[in-house]
Amino acid sequence: MRRKLIAGNWKMNGLRASSKALVQGLLDGISGGGPSYELLACELLVCPPACLLETVGGLIAGSPIGLGGQDCHSAEAGAHTGDISAAMLKDAGCAYVILGHSERRSDHGEADALVRAKATAALAAGLAPIVCVGETAAERDEGRTLAVVEDQLAGSLPPPGPGQDLVIAYEPVWAIGSGRTPSTAEVGEVHGAIRRWLDARLGAEAAAAIRILYGGSMKPGNAAELLAVPAVDGGLIGGASLKAEDFLAIARACA
Ligand code: PGA
Repeated sequence: MRRKLIAGNWKMNGLRASSKALVQGLLDGISGGGPSYELLACELLVCPPACLLETVGGLIAGSPIGLGGQDCHSAEAGAHTGDISAAMLKDAGCAYVILGHSERRSDHGEADALVRAKATAALAAGLAPIVCVGETAAERDEGRTLAVVEDQLAGSLPPPGPGQDLVIAYEPVWAIGSGRTPSTAEVGEVHGAIRRWLDARLGAEAAAAIRILYGGSMKPGNAAELLAVPAVDGGLIGGASLKAEDFLAIARACA
């Protein structure tokens, strides 16, 4: 059984004061009122902007909440103004890094080959990459969803290796921040296809360790049904991860 992962992608949101309040809300929610056994059903992760990693990391130290970055460079170090390396994220306390998010792909023109290079660098630094894939509305309308997603997987995932700690996030571009989500049948279809693709590529045993998250307008109101879809191993949550109450409600929906 894969333990579900509930990851908060804060994107470019938060200053020190508001982030402290958000994290305090999460910590209070986890510990307040006795042990929240239902939270143990999932692993919790927050991915703040890079400049808040230290602040947030300090607050969550010793708690069940993990830390992740939102992007990294593919090189180990060097002349790359404005970028941060996987080793820097690791040094700041991160265990994960989100890579190939559709906003990176569209805002920064990141293509599959770059995402693969970043994911390879992340693994080398001891981080688990969360590699994002997903179709646009037009691609879905053209009936190309599975082909697009499988293409992105083939191009973006690092070359297979033993014991890789890897997460995939299926995020339909049209569902991100839109309030629209695919039906549970549509989510199940894509997650099932990703799972079969991984089995074929890596063998069932190695593939079994890889979690496939759903992302795109996951909220307290729809989390339980999305997380109950077979082959959905957690969620990558944007907007709703900025409110402690909502993020924790989604985490509880794993139980
Ligand atoms: P959303 O974002 O939950 O705000 O739709 C998800 C994501 O982009 O990871």
